[in-house]
Amino acid sequence: MIKNAIPLKIAGVGYSVPETVITNDDLTKLYETSDEWIYTRTGIKERRVVSGNQNAIDLGFEAAKHALDKANLNPDEIDLIIAASSAPPDLYPAIACHIQARLGISTQVPAFDITAACTGLIYALSIARGYIASGMYKKILLVATDNNSRLVNWEDRGTSILFGDGAGAMVVTEAEDGIDDVIAIDIKADGSIGDLIELSFDGKNCPLVEQYEPKPFGIRMNGRGVYTFVAKVLPHYVEELIKNAGMNAEDIDYLIPHQANIRIIQAVQERLGFSDDKVVTNIKYYGNTSAASIPLALAESVEKGNVKLGTTAVLCGFGAGMTWGGAIVRLREGIC
Ligand code: UT7
Repeated sequence: MIKNAIPLKIAGVGYSVPETVITNDDLTKLYETSDEWIYTRTGIKERRVVSGNQNAIDLGFEAAKHALDKANLNPDEIDLIIAASSAPPDLYPAIACHIQARLGISTQVPAFDITAACTGLIYALSIARGYIASGMYKKILLVATDNNSRLVNWEDRGTSILFGDGAGAMVVTEAEDGIDDVIAIDIKADGSIGDLIELSFDGKNCPLVEQYEPKPFGIRMNGRGVYTFVAKVLPHYVEELIKNAGMNAEDIDYLIPHQANIRIIQAVQERLGFSDDKVVTNIKYYGNTSAASIPLALAESVEKGNVKLGTTAVLCGFGAGMTWGGAIVRLREGIC
């Protein structure tokens, strides 16, 4: 914890999803599966996918505009941009640089991407918190966006049923009223089990040397392994996060988790003893949108009135790396 830390305000949130819907029934045209199999194991009924040239940058740009609008800020008031993506459409330029240019933000404003897969928003918020706390930056745009549909192997029914495309954004600023909206935040990683979820970026060796064997295209996942690891670690982790903040589960109004599998969400819910109305789930309609998942769930649930403002929420996520993390945040009036 930084001494004399400047408090952080969550000033606005936004989201964006592509228009095209692919239902579980649609997937039966690709391989042998069923709505019943997918829904009972994952809680997913449909997902959104990009089409044509649309990509994560377009989705992130739209989400960023909404979040800025809600924060009542013009793009030129932002002094740092951080984008989180599991797999950016370009390794460079960074998504954050693309968004800086599209928003017409000054070249004085730094912009960079981070990769923490589905935990990306929590990692980005943690970085932003450090910058705000130290006074180095005062108004930061966070964009979490992924277009998984272009990265899955559509012949692999074990992974392609799970993922969807989307973006979420958050504007955080110095809190002039002295109230810190990040009550607690924590991030973790275990690289020794990184092979549970992988997406390789292959090139070619120099033609004058021995060539290497490229890995198969697309997201590769040991679904059982991920499930077992997360179901064991996450519920206890979230409980400890709350306890370490000096709070009880009753002090938290909402659980806004990464939308990866409804059964994992329910395991966290059960551990906290939360009723259904305290748990945000939109996995049924969007599947797993990776880095976008948490801010998309947050922004949409507030917009729809399912999450009331002037409340407290615990955000938690996990993903490739393996990474995981959680944050207890205040949701002020007017953020969406
Ligand atoms: O942010 C990323 C995080 N990732 C996750 O959270 C993934 C967590 N894991 C899961 O959600 C589950 O492991 C899955 C939903 C991916 C898979 O469920 P599972 O119960 O672990 O299934 P499984 O992979 O053990 O496969 C069981 C059976 C297999 O058939 P056999 O070998 O028993 O005959 C699979 O071939 O189900 C078969 N199967 C399918 N059947 C119909 C696998 N995918 C499908 C499918 N439709 N789409």
